[in-house]
Amino acid sequence: MDGEGVGSMSYIRIPYGPNRRSLAWRIGITVLPKHRRRGIGAKAHRLLAEQLLTQSDVHRVEADTDPENPPERRALVNAGFVQEGGLKGAQWRNGAWHDRVLFALTRDALG
Ligand SMILES: CC(C)(COP(=O)(O)OP(=O)(O)OC[C@H]1O[C@@H](n2cnc3c(N)ncnc32)[C@H](O)[C@@H]1OP(=O)(O)O)[C@@H](O)C(=O)NCCC(=O)NCCS
Repeated sequence: MDGEGVGSMSYIRIPYGPNRRSLAWRIGITVLPKHRRRGIGAKAHRLLAEQLLTQSDVHRVEADTDPENPPERRALVNAGFVQEGGLKGAQWRNGAWHDRVLFALTRDALG
């Protein structure tokens, strides 16, 4: 890798109530195809979640993905995220509404 970028990450705030403490972070990660299946995705999810939980006072870091995205689902589980449920027709993409699966890592699970 030698300093070369291997992908990208993003994170946005998701409000769950009227007060500021009820914010969660929703993260998204892409690993460039030639760097996949080497554990980078799992490591990146874990490191970003730890960073967000230690540098802000939010309680939850979340990620949502397609039910038909086994690599992302595996990477999230390997990073310590727990699958919580499904979101029906949550994402508009390629001319249709798509279901999503929601995962989270909460502060108390960090140990
Ligand atoms: C999802 C993504 C980030 C994973 O990155 P990665 O560096 O390959 O992740 P890891 O190497 O940590 O883990 C990949 C896991 O998926 C598994 N996997 C890979 N391809 C698979 C497939 N076709 N079917 C089932 N499992 C698969 C690997 O075996 C591994 O699981 P394991 O370690 O338990 O065996 C990467 O594939 C990606 O960028 N995809 C496109 C963007 C995307 O979908 N991002 C998610 C936001 S919705």
